[in-house]
Amino acid sequence: TLLAHDDPFPGGAVVPPIYQTSLFTFANYADMADTFAGRRKQPIYSRGDNPTVMEFEARVAALEGAEAARGFSSGMAAISATVLAFVGAGERMVAVRNCYGDAYRLFERLFPRLNIKVDYVDGSDPDAVAAALPGAKLLYLESPTSMMFELQDIAHLARLAKEQGIVTTIDNSWASP
Ligand SMILES: Cc1ncc(COP(=O)(O)O)c(C=O)c1O
Repeated sequence: TLLAHDDPFPGGAVVPPIYQTSLFTFANYADMADTFAGRRKQPIYSRGDNPTVMEFEARVAALEGAEAARGFSSGMAAISATVLAFVGAGERMVAVRNCYGDAYRLFERLFPRLNIKVDYVDGSDPDAVAAALPGAKLLYLESPTSMMFELQDIAHLARLAKEQGIVTTIDNSWASP
């Protein structure tokens, strides 16, 4: 029942239509003004909100038992946006070693411009993670890690981070064979 939709989509469709639009129109100027001012919710521009993506986000949140979900058009978009939301210029984060190559390139080639320091740890060693965490803004996991398939005890590491007020993120887009 989780994946079944209570209300059929337009025309009785059982899967949501794909809204191929960047812009959305408004019934009147007041609706537009209220939406832009945040008094009313309606998609304005697809990069921010798009009905197809919103449907996806609602279902992912339900599947994960999460309060909300955010959909992106690529893994690297999700990684960049998420990490930069939590780590600011001059701050430090802890990442698992052997994380996805382009995430590593983002951290090593672009983040130095923001003076963001990334320390890499063996995520399968909770003591090593605990030792690296103090002062970090973010714990970045990927389990299993790209190519090397190193696993992490996600719940345990997230608890360690949470005790210090550090947010944990995980890239779990790798489909293990
Ligand atoms: C583990 C992992 N993270 C991130 C990505 C990046 O995803 P995208 O190519 O959608 O940016 C990939 C792509 O292969 C991946 O394997």
